[in-house]
Amino acid sequence: MLDPVALNPLEDWLTVERTVVAIVGGGPAGLLLSHLLHGSGIEHVVLEARSREEIEHTHRAGILEASSVQTLVEAGLDRVLRDGERHDGIALRFDGEDHRIDLAGLTGRSVWLYPQTDVFVDLANRREADGAIGDGGVDGGEVRWGATVTRVLDGGAPSGGAPHGGALQDSALQDSALRGTRDLPGVLWTDAQGVEHELRCDLLVGADGSRSTLRHTLPEAQRRTFSHEYPYAWFGVIVEAPRSAPELVYTASEHGFALISQRTETHQRLYFQCEPDEDPDGWSDDQIWAELQRRVAGPDGFRLEEGPIEERSVLRFRSSVVEPVRHGRMLLAGDAAHTVPPTGAKGLNLALADVVVLHDVLETWLARRGGTLRPDDDVLDEYGRRVSERVWRAQHFSAWMSSMLHSHPGETGFAARRRVAELRTLTSSEAGRRFLAEGYTGWGPVLGGPATTAATTSTTTASRGR
Ligand code: DHB
Repeated sequence: MLDPVALNPLEDWLTVERTVVAIVGGGPAGLLLSHLLHGSGIEHVVLEARSREEIEHTHRAGILEASSVQTLVEAGLDRVLRDGERHDGIALRFDGEDHRIDLAGLTGRSVWLYPQTDVFVDLANRREADGAIGDGGVDGGEVRWGATVTRVLDGGAPSGGAPHGGALQDSALQDSALRGTRDLPGVLWTDAQGVEHELRCDLLVGADGSRSTLRHTLPEAQRRTFSHEYPYAWFGVIVEAPRSAPELVYTASEHGFALISQRTETHQRLYFQCEPDEDPDGWSDDQIWAELQRRVAGPDGFRLEEGPIEERSVLRFRSSVVEPVRHGRMLLAGDAAHTVPPTGAKGLNLALADVVVLHDVLETWLARRGGTLRPDDDVLDEYGRRVSERVWRAQHFSAWMSSMLHSHPGETGFAARRRVAELRTLTSSEAGRRFLAEGYTGWGPVLGGPATTAATTSTTTASRGR
């Protein structure tokens, strides 16, 4: 691709477009933010590099916490209550036996089996119905598929490029009304036909996933990344077969972890622990079934229902948190700000919780901005303050569940038995089961609210809804 800056340092050949909020990333986080901004009448543009079809065909996790369901229902997206499946419990299986955790009985909350793809489809359909897809976006909010960000602009001429461009400095942005559109943050982006565009905005939101372009433009001196790598991954398959279990089964065995999840009456989602660099095409269907069967086998004679394997992929494990989540007028949300390993399916739930808080903070910032030339950007720091506790609790929960349930390469016999003892202690104590259930169902809706205090265990409207 040609570099527009090298071609023409004055960029005069690009027409500059202006919006209030530019959102990079049209996955569930970006689209939920778009939907909420539309509801508040705030003009915005979403730029998503992939096509809608590509996102719809990517398999992702399937569990929504009650507060995520509540978020969707309150946003007017209630298909989850009809097509999703409420699960009141999960099983932990070890030493070849199931130990049920009664989520609803212990916490008053359930979880919903409703894959991320469905959340995405609901949001994309709604944005389309509201006129946001296509040229112009009738409501002043627009979603553009096939729109690839090539450069992040820090409130001046294009400086630096992804992945190591300049930061968005407050000083460069203040008095922007006086200094003109090109003093605002923004992006250069290329449409599906390869045509280059420039978009400037008051606020730039990075909801562009774990490989976020925006995150990488933050100056290293001003950002801290806390991360952890795991010596294992998941081999995930979609199979055409009847259900093997009514609820999810998280299995620890001497051969490694396995998870039984569901999708429909005819298709199931199964995972088993593998090496991080495993080649999914290096396994025959028979080998995959043999591996899954030996991990779930036990004295109870349990066997999985088998059938053709329709899709396969390897999911990597990584925990990471970037702090702070605001730099000048750029904010990060969802996987762009933090990633969790898949155990416990917290990633989408965290992203949705981020966006609810971010929308609230953006509304406040925009309302307070009024006609003043120097809006109080400290208001934007409320976002990071409010989401941080949930993010770190989810980091702990996902890392804890992962390490308790997976075999570690080179693990000693002592360490393996200590893990089983932990599982037995946990499942045989009501306090232990409740601790797990509170984390699994997501600590209730209060965390992340304006006055974050203690977690509550109240039943949400949504969990009573079915
Ligand atoms: C699923 C994925 C998860 O990571 C998990 O913890 C539970 C379920 C799923 O894809 O169904």
